Amino acid sequence: MADDLAAQLGVRMPSPLEVVRSAELDRLGTRLILKRDDRIHPQLSGNKWRKLQPNLEAALAGGHDTLLTFGGAYSNHLRAVAAAGHLVGLQTVGAVRGEEHQPLNPTLTFAVARGMHLVYLDRQTYRDKGSPKVLDQLHREFGDFYLVPEGGTNALAVRNCAEITREIEEPFDLICTPCGTGGTLAGMAAGLPPGSRALGFSALKGGDFLRDEVRRLQEVAFGTAFENWDIETGFHFGGFGRRTPELMEFVDQFEDHHGTPFEWVYVAKMLYGVIDLCRRGVVAPRSTVIAVITGPDEGVQSHNASWCC
Ligand SMILES: Cc1ncc(COP(=O)(O)O)c(C=O)c1O
Repeated sequence: MADDLAAQLGVRMPSPLEVVRSAELDRLGTRLILKRDDRIHPQLSGNKWRKLQPNLEAALAGGHDTLLTFGGAYSNHLRAVAAAGHLVGLQTVGAVRGEEHQPLNPTLTFAVARGMHLVYLDRQTYRDKGSPKVLDQLHREFGDFYLVPEGGTNALAVRNCAEITREIEEPFDLICTPCGTGGTLAGMAAGLPPGSRALGFSALKGGDFLRDEVRRLQEVAFGTAFENWDIETGFHFGGFGRRTPELMEFVDQFEDHHGTPFEWVYVAKMLYGVIDLCRRGVVAPRSTVIAVITGPDEGVQSHNASWCC
């Protein structure tokens, strides 16, 4: 059924690999390969598809006709759920944090255009969104629904992220991904072959808490935590949704060399970090490193951005 849904939606799997050409990396003998999960689907790309796929299948198999999920007003996850519901014929409800603001921003305009019904939760209610009280209220209002958690990270999603690494046929030493909730890293590490390691790059300032969170997610999804991964917390460039001129210069240079403008909220911070670690020898010379391009993130990129420094 997994393949049926992917085929029905025109999803491109496995996502392609692209070698980065760089004189500097050549000197180090390092092979840097991009795993282009952003090319999976125009509306459901990157880790959004990886996380939503098993949840869509579960919702359809369970006979649900509605997906309900949570997110902030600029949430790319809300966009992705709206797009997914539209594509597979499920109704969608987006429970948005905070008050309604008219006119709707582009993220919510997109969601509504894909048929998503929006409901606004005050901040206290939003904090309690997992409680029986709030969920009962939502069920009274919207009837039966399949609940997709905020950010799409649940055990099904984490298990499906293990496919990212399992799809790669050539040997590699290290696979890297940006981290928000840690769900993508938790799954990817579980799919690693012996001898390879995974490295997450926190897009948030103060990302040390993610180590416990990734362990917890692995225990929930796989019944055990793995020891084959770590998280770099020093490449947040001021914090989530913040950037520096140095980061944006890197984005421009990478686009000049590689021809692709990568989003900076998650992906460019990771790529900067990967190349920096290679340059400083933290990643051993002559390694083969995979960097997972977890998606474009236009909503955050254009509407929720601020400069740091
Ligand atoms: C492009 C992109 N990369 C990475 C992440 C973070 O993934 P995770 O929450 O699984 O750590 C996100 C967040 O959803 C994202 O939009």
